[in-house]
Amino acid sequence: MSSQQRRCVCPGSYDPVTMGHVDVITRAATLYDEVVVAVLHNNSKRGTFTVQERMKLLDMALVAVPNVRIEAFAGRLLVDVCREAGAQAIVKGLRSDTDFAYELPMALMNRHLSGVETVFLPGDPRFGHVSSSLIKEVAAFGGDITGLVPEGVRAALLARLQNPEGS
Ligand code: PNS
Repeated sequence: MSSQQRRCVCPGSYDPVTMGHVDVITRAATLYDEVVVAVLHNNSKRGTFTVQERMKLLDMALVAVPNVRIEAFAGRLLVDVCREAGAQAIVKGLRSDTDFAYELPMALMNRHLSGVETVFLPGDPRFGHVSSSLIKEVAAFGGDITGLVPEGVRAALLARLQNPEGS
């Protein structure tokens, strides 16, 4: 892909990917030539899914979106990830004013550090109550998460809850 092409980064922990993430990434893919989905993680923090599992689940969830590349980065500043990827922007979804309050200082800090802009997309209201942590809590207590995460994620999460040590 040439350097003239418009590229953005959609960063996150994606532990696991939700339909809210899929919506934002899919819409970002209509605005940019290429979307780099950056799985940012801390090697010393154990998540519900390993980074490889998160990437596999993202891969399945985004199979219909051709201009998406999924990559993992450990212990890195997002601005360095953007520079390395040749991305002009970070794209994030906003579900609420609470999200905005959380995201604004990060957007300003990232612009301060490297000049990279953050583009906010309004989250689809259908997924306004959806976050990875809430999904995991609801699923852990037997609640129905159908339609809030891709089907493969739902199956993987239920399997992980039945066998927490499995991989
Ligand atoms: O899915 P999350 O946990 O809300 O994602 C947060 C994430 C990974 C996007 C954020 O923590 C991040 O950008 N981490 C990379 C380290 C970094 O650049 N920190 C300074 C941000 S101003």
